[in-house]
Amino acid sequence: MFEHIQPYAGDPIFAVVNAFMADARPQKVNLSIGIYFDEEGRLPVLPSVQEAEKRILAAGGAKPYLPMEGDAACRAEVGQLLLGAAHPALADGRTVTIQTVGSSGGLKVGADFLKTWLPDSAVWVSDPTWDNHRSMFEGSGITVNRYPYYDAATGGLRFDDMLATLRTLPARSIVLLHACCHNPTGVDLTPAQWQALIPVLKERELLPYLDLAYQGFGDGIDEDAYAVRALADAGITFFCANSFSKSMSLYGERCGALTVVCTSAAEAGLVRGQLAYTVRRLYSSPGIHAAKLVARVLGEADLRAMWTAEVAEMRERIAAMRRALHDALVARLPGRDFSYFLTQRGMFSYTGLSAAQVARLRDEHAVYLIASGRMCIAGLSQANVGRVAEAMASVLAD
Ligand code: LMR
Repeated sequence: MFEHIQPYAGDPIFAVVNAFMADARPQKVNLSIGIYFDEEGRLPVLPSVQEAEKRILAAGGAKPYLPMEGDAACRAEVGQLLLGAAHPALADGRTVTIQTVGSSGGLKVGADFLKTWLPDSAVWVSDPTWDNHRSMFEGSGITVNRYPYYDAATGGLRFDDMLATLRTLPARSIVLLHACCHNPTGVDLTPAQWQALIPVLKERELLPYLDLAYQGFGDGIDEDAYAVRALADAGITFFCANSFSKSMSLYGERCGALTVVCTSAAEAGLVRGQLAYTVRRLYSSPGIHAAKLVARVLGEADLRAMWTAEVAEMRERIAAMRRALHDALVARLPGRDFSYFLTQRGMFSYTGLSAAQVARLRDEHAVYLIASGRMCIAGLSQANVGRVAEAMASVLAD
């Protein structure tokens, strides 16, 4: 029956994790997948989430199916988290938020919706982008193109080239943008650059689709929602898939959402209905535990304050690791420019290491990066950063 099917080459990120798990060397360091580890190398369980779980258990209750669009309290909290509680788009009823199976679920629901309702639109993603973006949109039957983004020469952004390309796109093209903490490069638009981009999106009648998987890991929870709020202020219709995998350390709970900000409440009502139908066709409805956790952590003042502090601690540890790696590399290879570790934001940095150099790091030093050269800074610690710098310096010096 299935002898004819093609073998799956494996996912470029999960394959590295599997190789890391199979590595018996005790000094191994995992800087591959986008997971935050604490200073002791553990995947943290956030106290705010633990306390929310205690309260959920104490409250008891059955586990009915959620509606297709998810839990109402969770959806309301997410809308406010993204836009700010007082944003007029919420009061005007022109915002739709559905709870999804991680932000990946949100991206996929959005992609299927767009293929149905804008069947001629292609999507444009940054060069480079998260490996799975292409697979997801192509899986929905949408053609995927790229706009210029990362500047290998500077470790920064090709903003003028990006704008020039976007100015050439047909109306209703979908433009996938990372709202903060760009995956894989860590290179973000500044607020001024978002403000320069918005008129182009408007004039060309493009549809921005924000991916916000790392809210709070760049400059702050509100600061990292700048793009969402700026687009909503500008009155543009746009999509935003967001995740609590990283910010609440809830990877396996698959907590995410898809928000669509529309131009009117009537349009939002139509979108809400068709998103619900899209969910019904894909997985019927999302999980109830994920919804209760997010709703409690965001909705109960004491838990919200705990969580805000926990996110700040994770963000500050990542920033400290950026500085530590930068300083250790400069000390070992003076004259080389490693300032990109300081200017790039969030969990990831693009090291510029070639696939061959990444393979040497793995084989000779048990240090695991993605083949593209992407490093997950959140896997560094005071205990391993010196060793990682030593390994990188030896690979770079040859
Ligand atoms: C990553 O980029 O490493 C994360 O977003 C995890 C994933 O699913 O790829």
